[in-house]
Amino acid sequence: MEGKTPSDSEIKDHTYKVFPNDLNSRGTAFGGMVMSILDRLAAVVAERHSAQTCVTASVDSMHFLAPAHRGDHLIFMVAVNRAWRTSMEIGAKVLAENPRTGEKRHMVSVYFTFVAINENEQPSPVPPLIPETAAEKRRYKEADIRRSRRKAEAAETEKRRAQDKKS
Ligand SMILES: CC(C)(COP(=O)(O)OP(=O)(O)OC[C@H]1O[C@@H](n2cnc3c(N)ncnc32)[C@H](O)[C@@H]1OP(=O)(O)O)[C@@H](O)C(=O)NCCC(=O)NCCS
Repeated sequence: MEGKTPSDSEIKDHTYKVFPNDLNSRGTAFGGMVMSILDRLAAVVAERHSAQTCVTASVDSMHFLAPAHRGDHLIFMVAVNRAWRTSMEIGAKVLAENPRTGEKRHMVSVYFTFVAINENEQPSPVPPLIPETAAEKRRYKEADIRRSRRKAEAAETEKRRAQDKKS
């Protein structure tokens, strides 16, 4: 399968304006609203890269680093970090921009794993990713470290559950 670059599928600056119906009871942007937009955009990127239907397999390291306020502009940046056999890590970053001052704050960072699915609902191979820039190469390398951690954590959970069943 021919490889693709991150720029073939990335979303550079999807922008969303925070209105009063987007706020939580503290009066800042509701995190669930931001998560929903992120999951949709990550699906778009995964489907662009794989040219297949993709499902969210996992979401990890989601950090809300700063609040966004009414009237702020949320800028979503989403790209494939790495592709393996049937899965892809999609990284996303959200900035909150103050429209009056132009100040931009780093609001959210998160990593999704999406899996491509064929017509029989089975995981299906995806094209390899060809990182080009220095940042893309760094994300590509780090994605493999995170995948190893995810696998180790899943294996540890399985082991603990099996032990709990025995006792
Ligand atoms: C994701 C899903 C398709 C994986 O199916 P599965 O039978 O476990 O598939 P496999 O064990 O063959 O794994 C397939 C790939 O998924 C990856 N994967 C499976 N579970 C994962 C998880 N929890 N986190 C990250 N990756 C995962 C595997 O590492 C593998 O990747 P690779 O082929 O690149 O090496 C299946 O668990 C599923 O359908 N989940 C529900 C998805 C869903 O409904 N999402 C919400 C709505 S979109």
